[in-house]
Amino acid sequence: MSLDNTQSIVEDSPITSELIQKYEKLFTLTPEKMRSIVDAFVETLKRGLEQYGQVVPMIPAFVFGWPTGEETGDYLALDLGGTNLRVCLVTLSGGGKFDIKQKKYRLTEEQKQMEGSLLFDFCADSLSAFLESAQAEGTIKAGAELPMGFTFSYPCQQDRIDHGILIRWTKGFGNPNVEGFDVTQLFADSLKKHNVPVSLTALVNDTTGALIASHYTNPRTRIGVILGTGCNAAYAERVGNIPKMKDLGIPDDTLMSINCEWGAFDSFEHKHLPRTKYDEIIDLTSNKPHEQAFEKCISGRYLGEIFRLVMKELIDEGVIFLGKDTSKLNEEYCFDTAYLSTMESDMTPELLTIVSVFSQHYKIETTLAERQFFKALANLIGTRSARLASCGMAAIVKKLDILDEGCSIGIDGSLYDMYPGFKERIHEGLTDIFGEKGKNVVTHHAEDGSGLGSAIIAAMTKTRKDKGFF
Ligand code: GLC
Repeated sequence: MSLDNTQSIVEDSPITSELIQKYEKLFTLTPEKMRSIVDAFVETLKRGLEQYGQVVPMIPAFVFGWPTGEETGDYLALDLGGTNLRVCLVTLSGGGKFDIKQKKYRLTEEQKQMEGSLLFDFCADSLSAFLESAQAEGTIKAGAELPMGFTFSYPCQQDRIDHGILIRWTKGFGNPNVEGFDVTQLFADSLKKHNVPVSLTALVNDTTGALIASHYTNPRTRIGVILGTGCNAAYAERVGNIPKMKDLGIPDDTLMSINCEWGAFDSFEHKHLPRTKYDEIIDLTSNKPHEQAFEKCISGRYLGEIFRLVMKELIDEGVIFLGKDTSKLNEEYCFDTAYLSTMESDMTPELLTIVSVFSQHYKIETTLAERQFFKALANLIGTRSARLASCGMAAIVKKLDILDEGCSIGIDGSLYDMYPGFKERIHEGLTDIFGEKGKNVVTHHAEDGSGLGSAIIAAMTKTRKDKGFF
């Protein structure tokens, strides 16, 4: 574990090098361990394609093939993500060109738990307000019924593109009476109540959106990944390689997008992931214990909480914040993952940004040794997250057998976009797994999958239906 570039541990501090080594050992993933995770992951992906009801469900998304880039028209996209609700008007102009107008609403913790119908009423209400103002501005004609892609970033079992039963809430959502129900129907009910004139054309996961939107602008894209509040991936698979779909009569060489829902990897057996006791606490105290084990080690919703749990342990052991009032750190999830990224970016000798994270938000004065330790700890937690994510990506590359030809992975989400060095750590992870050939796999920032991707999928669906295909 490297302390800050220019610094060494402050003498006489309770933060000893043994202590640092302890955390280093807990959070470091060796290349060997990564390769064994990848092998187990490949088997898990295959099992999900073989049978329904698997831990990692490998959900056929009923998006066939790739966009041509020539899709055109106005589309709405409503994106219910882990943190925000977003309404977008997407204009596809052909030639891979597009324009997006959008409005974003931050979701409150209360909205994530309220009765399901109320959550969908809120979506319908926001869409209605958006349409009214777009009509007033003349961007949409009054009375026009626009096709809409509904980006709903939770695992839904689909048997068509415009239908999906929520398998389970993830990312801390818990709204009653939605699990086990068709979310497009729940949303349609709310739209009817609010008299909103839209036709729900496609139900889309954010990863499928990222895959399709990225391919629209970069045809070397083979995988779409989200590394944000949640963590998941989608890719395109030949129907002939999806044994559980063999009775549907779809030709074998058709490409079907698969929403992996890889966040569930190793949730039951706990045989492969190097979980620490902090990961176990997070799991057991979450609203969904024994679920999303992989996601809980990686995604933005959880990294700050892992960090807080380590701090709590060290406070209880009398190692940090001696004689200080630490009560503000008692609340679960009060330590934002964004602070880990702030801490890692601090290059000042005194680590002044870290001083203010603690003094402003938690009213705690820190010592230099504590700040050095926190920066190094953030690095360990962030690096483990990136390296685990690269294991998932490597597993899909291996499953598709495209390491030699190479590919690009379109990635969206706050960890990839904003966390310093996250992208480099993913690439380092891929090289640790595959050796030099790992460099054949590159990543790029995915175009807005939840907005653009959803609209393109709505357009692809419309064309397919107009041609009479299912
Ligand atoms: C969670 C959801 C998944 C989504 C991901 C990223 O893992 O279950 O559907 O794609 O978060 O938002």
